[in-house]
Amino acid sequence: MSESFDVIVIGSGPGGYVCAIRAAQLGMKVACVEKRETLGGTCLNVGCIPSKALLQSSENYAETLHAWKDHGIVVEGVKLDLARMQARKGEVVGANTKGVEFLFKKNKITWLKGEGRIAAPGVVNVAGTDYAAKHIVIATGSESMPLPGVTVDEKRIVTSTGALELDAVPGHLVVIGGGVIGLELGSVWRRLGAQVTVVEFLDRLIPGNDGEVATQFQRVLTRQGMKFRLGTKVTGATAGEDGVTLTVETLKSGKTEELKADVVLLAIGRRAFTAGLGLAEAGVATDERGRVKADGHFATNVPGIYAIGDVIAGPMLAHKAEDEGVALAERLAGQAGHVNYDVIPGVIYTAPEVASVGKTEEELKAAGIEYKAGKFPFMANGRARAMGSVEGFAKLLADKTTDKLLGAHILGPDAGTLIAEIALAMEFGASAEDVARTCHAHPSLNEAVKEAALAVAGRALHI
Ligand code: FAD
Ligand code: NAI
Repeated sequence: MSESFDVIVIGSGPGGYVCAIRAAQLGMKVACVEKRETLGGTCLNVGCIPSKALLQSSENYAETLHAWKDHGIVVEGVKLDLARMQARKGEVVGANTKGVEFLFKKNKITWLKGEGRIAAPGVVNVAGTDYAAKHIVIATGSESMPLPGVTVDEKRIVTSTGALELDAVPGHLVVIGGGVIGLELGSVWRRLGAQVTVVEFLDRLIPGNDGEVATQFQRVLTRQGMKFRLGTKVTGATAGEDGVTLTVETLKSGKTEELKADVVLLAIGRRAFTAGLGLAEAGVATDERGRVKADGHFATNVPGIYAIGDVIAGPMLAHKAEDEGVALAERLAGQAGHVNYDVIPGVIYTAPEVASVGKTEEELKAAGIEYKAGKFPFMANGRARAMGSVEGFAKLLADKTTDKLLGAHILGPDAGTLIAEIALAMEFGASAEDVARTCHAHPSLNEAVKEAALAVAGRALHI
C-alpha cells in the first residue's frame, strides 16, 4: 500500500472537490482522484462555467445588436469575433479550475492523477498504485444520455461538450430535447445568428418546472426566434457531406418527416457515470437507472463507501452536489451534516432567466395540498421597466391555512438571484406575509417578489 488517507474522494467535480475541502478543514487527511487534466469536474470544465461564459458573451452581442438603440446608444459595424469569444470562455474555465488546484494546495489535499478504481473496500487503485482509505467517496458525476439512431461525433452531432466548442455559427441548429441544456445552449447559438429548432418529445418545455412559467417561457423564446416542435420524437440522425438529416415523428399523428441541420445538439438528459469504478467487484449496489444507491446519509450498502452528487438520485445540479459534499464530510467528522432537499433552487440562465424553488402548483395539486398563489408581472415593476426587461412574472405559493411558503417560480430579469430570497425564507420556515412585510429597496427587481407575496393575501399594491 503506497499511502493511507482518512478520505479518498473519486472525482473532483463540485461534489467531490467541496467534500475534499470540507473534510480537510475538519482535520482529515484527504486525497481526491481525478482523471481529467484539470480539476472541477463537468461543472467547471464542460458545464456550468463555460456555458455561463458563452451565455454572457452572446447576450452582450445580442443586446449590442438589438437593445441599445432603444437606450439611445447607436453602435455601428458590430462584428462577431467567435474565436475571441471562445478564447475568453477558455480563460474563464482556466481561472476556475486553477482556483480549485490552489484550494487543494491550501488545504493540503493530495490530487491523485488518473482513473480511480475501488480495488476492495478501503482500497482505491489509481494508475496501478493502491492507496488505503478509511472512507471512500464516489463523486464521479454524470455523462450525456445517448439516443439510439443518433451517433455523436462532437462535430456535427454534438452533446453539450461539442456545442460549447463550435468554431463557426451553424446555419441551422436542431436541438433534441427542450430541457435546460437545450434551451441555454440553443439561446447561445440563436443570439449569435443560428436558426434554432428545438424538437421535444413532450407537449411542453422544461418538464418538472411550473407549467405556467414553461408556457410563457416558450412564448418569449419564440419571440427571440427559436422554433419548437413539441410532441415530436427524433428516430434517427445521419451526418453526411451537406450536414445532418434527422428523421422525426409527430407523436399524435404518427407522421414522419425529415429535418435538415448543420449541427444537431443531443440534450435529452444525463445519466450517472460509473464506468471503470469497479462497483460490481466491490459489491456496491446501483439502482435501475445505474445510479449508486445511497441512504439519506450518503452511505452505500458497503461499509466505508459513500456517494454524492450526480452519481446518486436527485436533481443533477452543482449546488446540490456541493451541499451533499459538505454534509458528508461533516458526518465523517462526527458532526450532523444535512441537506434540505425541499429547498434546492434551480435556475435556467437564459434571458430572461427561469428560477424555481420548492413545489410547483402541479406538485401541490397532485399531493392534495391546498395552497394560495400570488403573482406579480415584471411589467409593473419600476426597475424592470427602467432596465427594459419587462417579460415574465414572480409567483409565490403558500399553504392555504398556515401561509407557510411552499414554492416560488420566477420568469424574469435576474430571476436566478431573486430566487435566493425565497430559498432563505423557506429555509427559515417563513410565511408569505413575512416576505410581504419585509422592507424591500426601491426601485429593485426584488419588489416584484414582495408584491407577489402581497398578492398571496390579495393585497398587491402596484397592480
Ligand atoms: P461532475 O462535475 O460530473 O464531476 C465528476 C468528475 O469525476 C469528473 O471530472 C470526472 O472526470 C471524474 N471521474 C469520473 N470517474 C472517475 C474515475 N473513475 N477516476 C477519476 N476521476 C473520475 N448545474 C448547475 O447547478 N448550474 C448550472 O448552471 C449548470 N450548468 C450545466 C451546463 C452543462 C452544459 C452541463 C453538462 C451541466 C450543467 N450543470 C449545471 C450540472 C452540473 O455540471 C452537475 O450537476 C455537477 O457538475 C455535478 O457534480 P459532481 O461533482 O457530481 O460530478
Ligand atoms: P433535461 O432533463 O433538463 O431535459 C431533457 C429534455 O429532453 C426533456 O424535456 C425531455 O422530455 C426531452 N427528451 C427526452 N428524450 C427525448 C427524445 N427522445 N426526443 C426529444 N426530446 C426528448 O436534460 P438536459 O437539458 O440534457 O440537462 C441535463 C441535466 O443537466 C439536467 O438535469 C440539469 O439539471 C443539468 N443542467 C443544469 C443547468 C442549470 O442548472 N442551469 C444547465 C444545464 C444542465
